[in-house]
Amino acid sequence: MFPRLLAYPLSLILFVGYLSFINAYETVQEAAVISRRLVDHSNRSIATMATVFPSDEPVLNGQPFSMQEYYASCHKNGSLTLLFLPISRHSRNIQRSPNHHASLSITSEIPAAAHARVSLIGNVIVYQDARTMPNVDDIKRCYLEKHPDARWWLPDDERAAHLAYWARFDPHTIYFVGGFGDEHYIGYIPLWLYQRSGRSATEETADYSPPVNRILLEQA
Ligand SMILES: *[C@@H]1O[C@H](CO)[C@@H](O)[C@H](O)[C@H]1NC(C)=O
Ligand SMILES: *[C@@H]1O[C@H](CO)[C@@H](O)[C@H](O)[C@H]1NC(C)=O
Repeated sequence: MFPRLLAYPLSLILFVGYLSFINAYETVQEAAVISRRLVDHSNRSIATMATVFPSDEPVLNGQPFSMQEYYASCHKNGSLTLLFLPISRHSRNIQRSPNHHASLSITSEIPAAAHARVSLIGNVIVYQDARTMPNVDDIKRCYLEKHPDARWWLPDDERAAHLAYWARFDPHTIYFVGGFGDEHYIGYIPLWLYQRSGRSATEETADYSPPVNRILLEQA
């Protein structure tokens, strides 16, 4: 009888402990790792891109435009590879934007209010001459691994369906929503943290363990 009575409160304590663990509020460091996981390991590598219509656009000037876009995460620092097709609405908006601004957002495999998503705000650099892009062969291989269908519209292919250029998106600002705000981190992630939180960074610190890390941070 006595041990059973004792077991009850104990399991209750363990259960409450478990609940508070799964509801853990991630640190900004963890948010950076989650962001990179979303960006680097998204199984579709399709982001929602947003750009702004140029000021001389008669009707829609200054208004936002968003539509899905292929990307590939081919750089350690989380800069993204894009295929820039001058014919596309996004490309025309980016070209006309003084600093070639764009924003890309990537969400969890199953998008939901309670699930993580990240928005990257930055600039697009277009390589009009593919030969000037560093490591063009590696980038091409990396991109085609994610998007085999893009082989029909690659730069430097005279038979391609569309004129296309390689481009790189360099984020300068990272905004993360982990889920509901009472349980998750919502806010900006410093660029340097995003840049070094890719897979190789986390593999290097193999003993990286979010809950312990949080406790250490809180104690610090
Ligand atoms: C991508 O994720 C979806 C949804 O979870 C899944 O059904 C699909 O099989 C995945 N595709 C690949 C290539 O892993
Ligand atoms: C990311 O790394 C690439 C080289 O892989 C570099 O060209 C690019 O400028 C870096 N991006 C940022 C935002 O520093």
